Amino acid sequence: MDNLWAIPFGIWAMVPALMPNSVAVLFGGGLPVDFGRTWKGKRIFGDGKTWGGFIGGAAVGMLVGMITLLLAQVYPPDVWWPGAPVGYGFGDMPQAIGVVFLLAVGAMLGDMAGAFIKRRLGYERGRKVPILDQYDFVAGALLLNLVFYPSWVLNTFVYGLGWISLLIVLVLVWVLHRGFNIIGYKAGLKKEPW
Ligand code: CTP
Ligand code: MG
Repeated sequence: MDNLWAIPFGIWAMVPALMPNSVAVLFGGGLPVDFGRTWKGKRIFGDGKTWGGFIGGAAVGMLVGMITLLLAQVYPPDVWWPGAPVGYGFGDMPQAIGVVFLLAVGAMLGDMAGAFIKRRLGYERGRKVPILDQYDFVAGALLLNLVFYPSWVLNTFVYGLGWISLLIVLVLVWVLHRGFNIIGYKAGLKKEPW
């Protein structure tokens, strides 16, 4: 994918991973994923990781991903963007659905892994940990796909111009994370503006 298409596609492809975290806050407040259990005196994940947030977030991410796949069926990119790959860039439909699924679920698992690390470091829920807070879900989404669809991840985010879209995604995530958290705080959904 040495065509310029690779850059917008990489950003577009991450949308199913970007959604879950921002909407999880709307589904929070219920049963914690760790059921309140502790490990070595600290909560496993803490009250910030709930089943509602996990399932709701992952479901919205998948739904949005399915809509992007549907859009690509209705308006095939290779028709309106010269040089765009036939079939959009997600591969065939089974792979496309698999990638979208793993992006959404991986994002939520990455977010939980981030909370797990924070608890092991002794940080209470909501404590600000730069880099980890912003990128745990990006890492989760990409690593889970790397296990099942390694060539898709490498072709989309590393090879050719792919690394440029990854770079833009990382900057975008930083800005969006800030923006969403300020909105969530002002709306009374979050206790801290980060
Ligand atoms: N949330 C949830 N379930 C998840 C992820 C998030 O219910 N699996 C909700 C929680 O209400 C959480 C909010 O979304 O407080 C914001 O998520 P996040 O910033 O990741 O959690 P924190 O409260 O900051 O907790 P932690 O320190 O564990 O990251
Ligand atoms: Mg947080």
